[in-house]
Amino acid sequence: MSKQLLSGHVVEELTKEEQKAIGFNNFVHGIVRLKPEGWVYPGTAPTFLDRIYNMEFRPDDVLITTFPKSGTSWMQEIIWTMVHNPKLDNPKAQESLWLRSPDISLDMMFDSKTLGGKAPESYQKKFREQCPGKNEKEGVTLHLADAEPSPRILKSHYPFTLMPKDVLDRVKVVYVARNPKDMAISLFNNFKMFKVFEFESEKEEYFKDIMNNKTLYCPYWPHVKEAWGKRHHPNLLFLFYEDMKADIMKELGRINEFLGTGLSQESLENVARHTSFSAMKSRGEPITDPVFDKKDDNEVRFFRKGTTGDWKNHFSPEMQKEFDQWIKENLAGSDLSLSWALAE
Ligand code: A3P
Repeated sequence: MSKQLLSGHVVEELTKEEQKAIGFNNFVHGIVRLKPEGWVYPGTAPTFLDRIYNMEFRPDDVLITTFPKSGTSWMQEIIWTMVHNPKLDNPKAQESLWLRSPDISLDMMFDSKTLGGKAPESYQKKFREQCPGKNEKEGVTLHLADAEPSPRILKSHYPFTLMPKDVLDRVKVVYVARNPKDMAISLFNNFKMFKVFEFESEKEEYFKDIMNNKTLYCPYWPHVKEAWGKRHHPNLLFLFYEDMKADIMKELGRINEFLGTGLSQESLENVARHTSFSAMKSRGEPITDPVFDKKDDNEVRFFRKGTTGDWKNHFSPEMQKEFDQWIKENLAGSDLSLSWALAE
């Protein structure tokens, strides 16, 4: 009998052949597809999603929601700095970004054979310190989020449809979207970079899997379009990575107004400097745990390029054409415009 989530989604398991075909063989509990949209996640996701469905959000939480590789960490550091460190003097800023801004969608990714199905040591250590008596099987990052003092700056890659129906009435959400071509190359590098995934796929094959909704975190369009459809809700701020790159001060002004942080122009300039790509890169990776370490033969780092249009260095002319067609088809009839994402 198929399992049903509290959100109403039905869980379907991918066969071993399907997992192998998309290059992900390293999850202890395999991979599932959540219908009707068909979200593809590691097999432990349903347990954590049911916990998130009942999660106690706090009125002063800020939830950053994205499809992966859309500038999530950048936004986490921006908002964490605006809320907790506007004078750039908070010692807690020394802690790894991903530990002080908990990712409520991360637990499912720890189900790796390389990790023995457990969270990496830096998460375990904080969990032991902050969550005594709690059961790690219920989600190390979920318990860490519970233990985090307010105001919390939370992160999630789950789409709205998997979250509690009234989440926007309970917390402020900042959604960041990015050109899917740059997202695709960034995500490909991400999976190749981290040892824990043992990811075996080639670039063009992977891009096709994205377009066919066959790989982890997909489908892309329902994720972005659902958030876009909610953009007029007073508790949602919908931003584009490309706009942030083009004029960060303008976007920081919008965030300042949305969150009600009331920062001066001078403070916002500090935030912009502190969260620039070069500044974040020079402070080091957002998590320093060795199991998140890079494959020895891979020079790619988390702070990889931080630019727009890097896809031009990676897409063959044929792949560009196919991807553009995919973008056009998915934007047809929608008022979401990504004309800048196309080749011409
Ligand atoms: P690239 O791989 O294209 O360089 P996420 O945080 O959602 O995983 O997104 C990661 C992407 O955002 C990576 O893109 C990373 O380099 C980029 N990024 C991280 N910090 C950034 C910053 N301060 N400014 C611009 N881009 C940043």
